[in-house]
Amino acid sequence: MRTLQHLFESNRNWAEGAKMADPDFFERLVAQQNPKYLWIGCADSRVPANQITGLTPGEVFVHRNIANVVVHSDFNCLSVIEYAVAYLKVEHIIVCGHYGCGGVKAALQNNKLGLIDNWLRHIRDVRQKHDDVLSGIDDQELALKMLCEFNVIEQVYNVCHTTIVQNAWEQGQNLAVHGWIYSLEDGLLNDLNTCVTKADELSSIYRLAVSTKREQV
Ligand code: CO
Repeated sequence: MRTLQHLFESNRNWAEGAKMADPDFFERLVAQQNPKYLWIGCADSRVPANQITGLTPGEVFVHRNIANVVVHSDFNCLSVIEYAVAYLKVEHIIVCGHYGCGGVKAALQNNKLGLIDNWLRHIRDVRQKHDDVLSGIDDQELALKMLCEFNVIEQVYNVCHTTIVQNAWEQGQNLAVHGWIYSLEDGLLNDLNTCVTKADELSSIYRLAVSTKREQV
């Protein structure tokens, strides 16, 4: 109960296996981390960044919160983005949502959960933006799917608007921001085609991504 022995055991097995497969593995990681990717995803236990992308330790810098939300006043998330972009010089920021997201579902259905309702307010704002489309959908599963996708597109937009990403682009840094969504049902990632690589692409790509989704309904 107090020691969670089984986790330490499986940790030892993992460390041994990693060393056997690659004797320099830990030495290399001690020396430096050099990830090309920043992953901003949901805290959901079913969506672990490394496993689903097949990336090993050292290859992806990760920030996860409930429903993969990027808020301009969240210094936790902003600090992660700044460190990844300005110091680690990642080349890609991936905002990854997932279908069946509990946070998005609570925002869609106006469920009252407590403190988290304040966090989910950001997704309710996204819902409100597309209320004309979403309220016309009878199938609640489909509405949830749509809002999960709208949420990713919105958060990509928010990432691109941070001073950190804007400054990086202004300085000519190679940086792409992607919007993906993961399906719990088959374990596959889908690209929402909202990849932005420079400031002046942002508005047109955002508008196109949103209008494409809205027309699918
Ligand atoms: Co989720």
